[in-house]
Amino acid sequence: MAGIVLIGLQWGDEGKGKISAYLSRGAGLAVRFNGGANAGHTVTIGDKELRLHLLPAGVVSCRRAAIGPGVYLDLPTLVEEINRVQENIGDIELTISPRAHVVLKLHKELDRYLEEIRGGKIGTTMRGIGPAAMYKYGRIGVRFGDMLEDENLEDRLIKIAKYIELKNKNINFHDEYVELRLIIEKVRKYVGNVTRLIKNELSQGRTVIFEGAQGTMLDLDYGTYPYVTSSTTLASAAAHGSGVSLKDINEIVGVLKAYTTRVGEGPLPTEISGELADEIRARGKEYGATTGRPRRIGWLDLFQLRYAAELNGVDKLIITRLDTISGIERLKVCIGYKIDGTKINEYPETVAKLRRVSPIYIELNGWQTLNREEIDRILLNGYEELPRNAKQYIELIEEILGIPIKWISLGPRIEDVIEK
Ligand code: IMP
Repeated sequence: MAGIVLIGLQWGDEGKGKISAYLSRGAGLAVRFNGGANAGHTVTIGDKELRLHLLPAGVVSCRRAAIGPGVYLDLPTLVEEINRVQENIGDIELTISPRAHVVLKLHKELDRYLEEIRGGKIGTTMRGIGPAAMYKYGRIGVRFGDMLEDENLEDRLIKIAKYIELKNKNINFHDEYVELRLIIEKVRKYVGNVTRLIKNELSQGRTVIFEGAQGTMLDLDYGTYPYVTSSTTLASAAAHGSGVSLKDINEIVGVLKAYTTRVGEGPLPTEISGELADEIRARGKEYGATTGRPRRIGWLDLFQLRYAAELNGVDKLIITRLDTISGIERLKVCIGYKIDGTKINEYPETVAKLRRVSPIYIELNGWQTLNREEIDRILLNGYEELPRNAKQYIELIEEILGIPIKWISLGPRIEDVIEK
């Protein structure tokens, strides 16, 4: 039996969706345990691209999914997504924890309002995640299970809106209530005990993939606060957010992209701009899967990744997008940070400090453009077929992080992965 946690080690968008679909082949269950519809996981099946926000992307491979208590549910998005997935891949089995909190329209409204009054913008996805978390921790949230049973839902919706004075009171709670009532009947059949389901899978010797959303640097406590999301995005959240014990986790797999991206505001020490950034963005289709915003681009940051790998306790690594940076003559890799000319040993804990760092780079030679034909040949023959400089890039990461890279992703399709 194996509980495998998949975690993004950067600012999200490392390609976890596709990797989860790859690792979920033959698994018993794929689980979402954090975040909400702010996440956007893209999987390519044949010539179809599926963009998932709430269902774990692993469901496209194992067809069984669970959504744990740690997830913020956007019910209209979920229903649309279930339909879309079933149209594309056929029936799926889904279990949703009654403990998961529901995102309401007022949360999205508040998301907009808070961005306005916050001063410094965070650049949220406007999916209502921060306010839904405020309501959850303020103990006035609406949980999925309560909603299924609550006869006084409309009154409750109106009451909880009073918790925070809304600037734009243009929400019609009656309309939302009517909409939710219709949705409730569509999703009622999915409610179930996620903890028990996972425990049963594991005790029957099947693999469970815990699919993290967002990335380590967006973690509420350990990321670049306040430019973070309102969830715990570390591997430790897999246990808490799905109701299993830490002992049920056997392996922690970290996903990193061959370069860095960030969507939204906040520090990105290795950020680059200009022609090269535009080229990488275009080649990698680096636009937010949820909002369509262009992602900011940066060089690979091994100082940041060492921090992330340690926080998560990563056992194995997967690198994605090695193909996207092929054809670039010289590549920079950050191996440390300096502040006022002095090398620092620990990742800065505040944004003010992070804004003062200058990255220490080493430069490596790049490798030739990997076109589809080239990639197919590598996929067929394995790691040794990779260009020598690409292997050097991989081996440098392994050496500095002290963690093996077990898989290398070279394209958008689930099967575009080689094992090392
Ligand atoms: P929120 O999670 O919508 O509140 O947004 C907070 C920050 O996290 C913003 O900078 C978002 O762009 C970023 N963010 C949230 N979810 C994701 C994701 O799945 N991938 C990448 N960035 C994300």
